Amino acid sequence: MSNVIDILDLSVEDIDGLINVACDIIENPDKYAEKCKRKKLATLFFEPSTRTRLSFEAAMYELGGNVIGFSDSNNSSAAKGESVADTVRTVSCYADIIAMRHPKEGAPLVASMATNTPIINAGDGGHNHPTQTLADLLTIYREKGSFNNLTVGLCGDLKFGRTVHSLINALSRYAGVKFVLISPEELKLPDYVTNNVLIKNNIPYTVTTDLSEAMPQLDILYMTRVQRERFFNEQDYIRLKDSYILTPEKLISAKEDLAIMHPLPRVNEISCAVDNDKRACYFKQALYGKYMRMALILKLLEVE
Ligand code: CP
Repeated sequence: MSNVIDILDLSVEDIDGLINVACDIIENPDKYAEKCKRKKLATLFFEPSTRTRLSFEAAMYELGGNVIGFSDSNNSSAAKGESVADTVRTVSCYADIIAMRHPKEGAPLVASMATNTPIINAGDGGHNHPTQTLADLLTIYREKGSFNNLTVGLCGDLKFGRTVHSLINALSRYAGVKFVLISPEELKLPDYVTNNVLIKNNIPYTVTTDLSEAMPQLDILYMTRVQRERFFNEQDYIRLKDSYILTPEKLISAKEDLAIMHPLPRVNEISCAVDNDKRACYFKQALYGKYMRMALILKLLEVE
């Protein structure tokens, strides 16, 4: 494996290995401080980001490597009309590994076909976000100790929320996982995910618009932002944006050991009053993203 475009590019064994390395990095950071000396990561972000780009960059620095790249493609030659393929061919002359975010679904796949330099999909349109899923999986592992037999509620924008699509793909490979899909009708999970992942693999799932009704059964509640940037019509966004707002009152019926997750950024989906609840995991999730990206960089660069 030389690229990670989709979470399914990583086997269950690969993910176990990445989690083991990430946990070791957490315990023994000094052991890893020079593992990527003289290596360069390029971060090519054609879309805004805080967590993904900065955690990739922090990951490479903590491995002793260096970082080049852009966070605004208007300052790159993409603004002059350069193709993704030509951009990565060029950047491959300067970097050992590339993390790319792009608003167009499939752009990182196109990039991976243009170069032998490892490409990591850092989010492509409303499609996939595999390294967010790595962060999510480490969070679940450290909170729950296992991926098996979990009831996972996914709430909010399941249509455009690329982190949800990757997470469903990843968790569907574990025994006894059930999904509760909580969204307005207009933001329901795309049929291609329901059909090709849930139905095809006989994964149990229920669909509801009612978060409160779903709450008592959940082991994981994964809240998501309504993805304003994917809407064609601002009025639709305004109508749907506050469909779900998690408050302490809504958590009264939740399990004591519920894990409340969110890939962030949040807008209004989780009240700040929930942040001090011991079940809130979303800032830990952001931290764990850095460790999993460190583990992934080591794997793709084949560093022992
Ligand atoms: N979770 C996530 O992808 O956050 P950013 O958009 O800030 O990178």
